[in-house]
Formats: sequence, C-alpha cells, structure tokens
Amino acid sequence: MSKNFLWPKNEGIVVVPHIGHALGCLRYAAAVLGWTIELITESGDGELSELLGLNRSEDFKADERESADILCRVHTEHSQQAYDLDALMNAANLGNWQGQAQPLNRYHLYKWQVIDEVAKATEKPRTETLKPQILTPLANYQSACQKTATQIIRQRRSAQSFNPNATLLAEQDFYQILAATLPDKLPFDIWPLPSKIHLFIFVHRVEGLEPGLYALPRNTEKLPVLQAATSEKFVWQAISAPLPLYKLLSANCRNAAKTLSCHQAIASDSAFSLAMVAEFSETVEAAAWHYRYLFWEAGLIGQVLYLQAEAAGVRGTGIGCYFDDSVHEILGLNDETFQSLYHFTVGTPLEDSRLQTLPAYSHLEK
Ligand SMILES: Cc1cc2nc3c(=O)[nH]c(=O)nc-3n(C[C@H](O)[C@H](O)[C@H](O)COP(=O)(O)O)c2cc1C
Repeated sequence: MSKNFLWPKNEGIVVVPHIGHALGCLRYAAAVLGWTIELITESGDGELSELLGLNRSEDFKADERESADILCRVHTEHSQQAYDLDALMNAANLGNWQGQAQPLNRYHLYKWQVIDEVAKATEKPRTETLKPQILTPLANYQSACQKTATQIIRQRRSAQSFNPNATLLAEQDFYQILAATLPDKLPFDIWPLPSKIHLFIFVHRVEGLEPGLYALPRNTEKLPVLQAATSEKFVWQAISAPLPLYKLLSANCRNAAKTLSCHQAIASDSAFSLAMVAEFSETVEAAAWHYRYLFWEAGLIGQVLYLQAEAAGVRGTGIGCYFDDSVHEILGLNDETFQSLYHFTVGTPLEDSRLQTLPAYSHLEK
C-alpha cells in the first residue's frame, strides 16, 4: 500500500466516523434496556454484501451501490449462543431477493473517485473473530448528573454556535467528560482492538486550568511514543487530575483551533475543542481494513463526548472539517505515524430559536 494514498495533501478533509457514532448509539440504547451488543468482526465485506443482498448489481443504480460496514448482534439475555456465520449465509442463500433500490439521484454530477479508491483499498476479508478488549479501570469518575440516560440521549443535539463569554466550564465537568472517553467502560466494552486514538485538547475556558494545549493518551503505554513523535517544545506536565492528562503548552489557542477547523468558530468559542489523533501507519500497515476501525473508534469517542457534554449541562459538536496537515504541523508530527482523524468541540451553546426539536414520531401523534 502506498504510504500516503489515502490522504490528499494540503486540503481540508471531511471525515466519516459516523459508523462509530451509530455503534455508540446502539450500545447505549442496548445498555438502557439491560442488553449487550456484539460486533461480528469475522465477516468480510463480500459476505456482508451477500447476506444483505447488496451484491445484486442489476437491482442497484450503478453509481449508487450500497455496502454494509459491520454486522452487530444484539443480545437480550446473558446467555450468548455461539455465532455461526456460515449457517447464517446458508440460510440467507435459501431465500430469493426481490425488489430494486430506489434511485437517490437522477444524475451524479461529481464522482468522488478517491472514496471508491479508499473503499477498495480498505476492503475487509473474512478474518478471525476479534474479541472485545478486557476493560481495566483507568479513571474512577462519577457524573453528578441527575438526569436519566434516556433523557440525555433524547435531548442530545449538536451546538450550532457557542457563547464565547459564558461562565467557565467547571473543572470537575471537564474531567468527567474526558474520563468518559477512556476505554475502560461502556461503550468501549464492544471495541475489539486496543485503543489507538489519543486526544490533543485545546483548552479555552475551563475553571482552574490555564488555556493551552493538553494531551490525553487513551492508552498510557503509548505516552513515550507520543512524546517522541510530537513537538520538542511540549512540556508534558502531568496535571493533578483523576485521569492521565498532560499540559503541553500554555497559550491562547482560540485562533489556532478555529483556523485548523476550517475557520469554524465552533472550535474557538467553546470551552475546549480537541483533535482525535490515531496511531496510523503501523495500524493500517498491519491490515488496511483497520483504517475503517480507526474512524469508528473516533466516532465512538465522539458519541461519548456528545452525551457527556449534555450530562454536564453543556453541548458538543462533531467537527469533520479541518486541515489535517496544519494540525500535524502544530503538534510537530512530521510523518504518518500519527494522523488526526476527527475533531470535536464542547461548550455553552447559543440556542438558535429558529430550530425546533420535536419528539421522535411526533408526526404520527394525533
Ligand atoms: C462526523 C461528524 C462531523 C461533523 N462535522 C461538523 C462540522 O465540521 N461543522 C459543524 O458545524 N457541524 C458538524 N457536525 C454536526 C452535524 O452538522 C450535526 O450532527 C447534524 O447537523 C445533525 O444534527 P444533530 O447532531 O443536532 O442531530 C458533524 C457531525 C458529525 C457526526
């Protein structure tokens, strides 16, 4: 695999960790019901297509082929009967698919060739089952939120803009939000690879913390590698906090954060924004399809941040548009050992009164 074929250089990138967000939603929703989720990591893309009838080229418009990412199994009880992919495939093959996919667009004016190239390069073959990681406690932090999980899930929205003059985010809330991203608890109990995403945090407005750049290695074994790969100017001063947080430098990072995130003020007007930086080259060289898992892990973290922000009385927004080369320059990363994959921001939202949130299925209510 060519070293940099996946990343068009000098362009803002728009990323797609959505599957990770969906997995997070699924895991939290299952937990609320006392259920669990299992990722069926063994199946290859070809098998998934066959299983879901997506391999029927005649029934799909050429430019609108669909592909499935991952198969999940929902367990409603504790007994987990072993999963048999071949039996499932055989059963599916006994049926007859009917119907044609409805076209979304009459014409496709622009073909995103790089997306097809990436999809092909990262196709997943059938593999051994990857078992979820054993969770070991990393940070013991309890939320003071009095709302139920269901209330938090239902009220979650993305902030459209933030109040740059709001009260500072309480230090305890900041730690609670970040501690929830550590891979020692739900939803990371479904995650089948060691954590490979680390957080670089632009702290703007947090009580008791100097504004500046901070780092949260989500796997502390990787601390020396992160230190060696990043700027020599970073001091890596351990913060006295219930999680492995390090200050790298003190500075007003608002302009930098905004510029890096495609000039979006949501990255600078918040209490903090962050870059999710993945252990990249080693991971994709081991197996190209792990590339997709890196994004999904980022999406899972994003979903945790969305909900934890709500629980802390603030709000989050995913940031998929940012200039990755410039992010790397600021962090001092000068090869592909690490790659920024997704950004996120959390703060006090400015409500847009033009937006209305209705309960799900409210249009069906009489
Ligand atoms: C992966 C991802 C990337 C996003 N990137 C941006 C972004 O760069 N700028 C922005 O204003 N909102 C961004 N958002 C927020 C979406 O616009 C928002 O989630 C969407 O409009 C749905 O609204 P909701 O989150 O309130 O349900 C992103 C969301 C996700 C999940």
